[in-house]
Amino acid sequence: MEREKFYITTPIYYPSDKLHIGHTYCTVATDAMARFKRLQGCDVLFLTGTDEHGQKIEEKAKEAGVTPQQFVDNIVAGERGVLDLWKLMNISNDRFIRTTDDYHVLSIQRIFRRMYDNGDIYKGAYKGKYCTPCESFWTDSQLQDGKCPDCGREVHEAEEEAYFFRLSKYAEPVRKLLEDTDFLQPRSRVHEMVNNFIKPGLEDLCVSRTSFSWGIPVDFDPGHVVYVWVDALSNYITALGFDNDRYHDYDRYWPADVHFVGKEIVRFHSIIWPAMLMSMGLPLPKHVFGHGWLLLDGGKMSKSKGNVVDPYILARQFGVDALRFFLMRTFPFGSDGNFSNELLIQTINTDLANDLGNLLSRTVSMVGKYFGGTLPEQQADDPALDAELVTMGGGLRDRYEAAMEAFAPHKALEEVFALVSRSNKYIDENAPWILARDMEHNGARLARVMYNLLEALRISTVLLLPFMPESMVKALDQVGADAALRTWESLARWGGLPAAASVTRGENLFPRVDMDKALAALEAAAEEARKADLPALEFEPPSPEVEFDTFAACDMRAVKVKDCVPVKKSEKLLCFTLDDGTGEDRQILSGIAKWYRPEDLIGKTLVAIVNLKPRKMMGLMSCGMLLSATHTEHGEEKLNLIIVDDAIPAGARLC
Ligand code: MSP
Repeated sequence: MEREKFYITTPIYYPSDKLHIGHTYCTVATDAMARFKRLQGCDVLFLTGTDEHGQKIEEKAKEAGVTPQQFVDNIVAGERGVLDLWKLMNISNDRFIRTTDDYHVLSIQRIFRRMYDNGDIYKGAYKGKYCTPCESFWTDSQLQDGKCPDCGREVHEAEEEAYFFRLSKYAEPVRKLLEDTDFLQPRSRVHEMVNNFIKPGLEDLCVSRTSFSWGIPVDFDPGHVVYVWVDALSNYITALGFDNDRYHDYDRYWPADVHFVGKEIVRFHSIIWPAMLMSMGLPLPKHVFGHGWLLLDGGKMSKSKGNVVDPYILARQFGVDALRFFLMRTFPFGSDGNFSNELLIQTINTDLANDLGNLLSRTVSMVGKYFGGTLPEQQADDPALDAELVTMGGGLRDRYEAAMEAFAPHKALEEVFALVSRSNKYIDENAPWILARDMEHNGARLARVMYNLLEALRISTVLLLPFMPESMVKALDQVGADAALRTWESLARWGGLPAAASVTRGENLFPRVDMDKALAALEAAAEEARKADLPALEFEPPSPEVEFDTFAACDMRAVKVKDCVPVKKSEKLLCFTLDDGTGEDRQILSGIAKWYRPEDLIGKTLVAIVNLKPRKMMGLMSCGMLLSATHTEHGEEKLNLIIVDDAIPAGARLC
């Protein structure tokens, strides 16, 4: 029998900055969905990739002093880049597309021409408000308080000769698609799209640019590059081989079963993308699901908060599976959610360490302790105590499936954890430690209690595989479920494990996290990453020119340090007693305590400006200033006193 196909995609990411936990959220959700479909037995194609063209990338590359291609190569394929991150997060994508790949470039030129040849793309002039970071033109009515409605930043007036796509022509069929079908989910997003974009009147869309060059040239008018969203959206079909020879999967996998996308790009996926496909006479994807955002302190995650929400740091601290699980368990997939490290730690401790981890380790150790690791075949039911657990476990697969099919992974996990909690309660109800006191009479009953716990664990852990692929394999090893007992079919009913089930003790998969220690470690790691991100050396440009006399007015002399002590009650100041060649001691205070121990400086020859007006600091007079060199390294201020050759006598003038 031919397997059912399932084609699922994530948005392709802009490699303009490092990805944060918000980006990871969507990819993990897509991965869990893809793994679920594979578990069900589907022939899955899971696509992700990077969206590498556009003005924003061109500008960033310029700032960094590299070519746009070098810039994106570094963020995509460089150390800790997009590819590294997906590997770390155990993302099981089958394909990865980069919009700078040759085959994609060729396809886009052909796709553009298709829409031009059928009259849906025409040449005109564009005047409007443009938001550079979002690469979007907006009409006055779409602006919010005169600013970009997507990102809230300033827009500017722009005009250029451009090609237009007849989006207006598709307003009615797109409205019908949104209102009359379940194409766009969750339903709340439909009203948003229809009311905000379609009802006010869909205008034709500007689909080429001449003001920058980092894009795919329109092959029949090379001064123009294709609008980045036309380029990006088409990845979903070019990656299958549409209009290119790189792949040959279009007939098998298109239309996509679902595009998972963040809420701010639902507009592109539910209005522009269907209109483009309609224009080319191609089938439409079955669903677009617009998930919510992970927020930080109620606001958007941004580059400046980057290290706080760096998935590398979080995964290193808590483990990849725990992080994946947290993302899917905590936030209802269609809504926004507030990310915090405290919440992450609480979820790990409650669900993973307490509920699931304890259930697993208690059960496995009891089977070891009471039965030497293998259950006897003789087991005794107690319908009054077993019925609820058995019914719940037997029906779990279907309830989980319904939730996953409805793109509600959080609900699927809720179902699994209901069984986990019920199992923990079942332990208390049956009190195995009491049964174990009289094995002769209660041994068969105890064996059945253990069997039921193992079976509940088996069903739960198989269903958790899509979310925590590595640790659930280890859990299944402990429970003694072989390959045949890890399949979708094996979950259809209660009782898959053989009566004489054997367990293997293993590591504690989810140790409890100490909240305070973990938060401190995260803060330290974020600080370290912040420093590493800063330039090694920051160069300060030279000050404006001055006349020679201005310089010469400064009397700089060699001085010898006779004594040096810290100034009481000051963290910064050291008090120097200096020989300046006059025969009388000179006292200078200098704010260098952070960098030097006073005793190390005694006897050194330094340079002082000796004709500065004396001033009082912390009750002491300072007569002059010691010269030092300062610079910034990885964001930290560094200072070195100017220490000169001891052969220079005190009082020698520097010029
Ligand atoms: N390049 C476009 C997508 C083109 S698809 C044809 C893009 N890229 S992006 O890198 O800016 O965003 C990629 C995805 O990450 C989007 O779906 C976006 O919603 C998602 N997220 C970015 N920050 C997010 C959160 N803080 N929370 C959840 N998802 C977030 O848009």
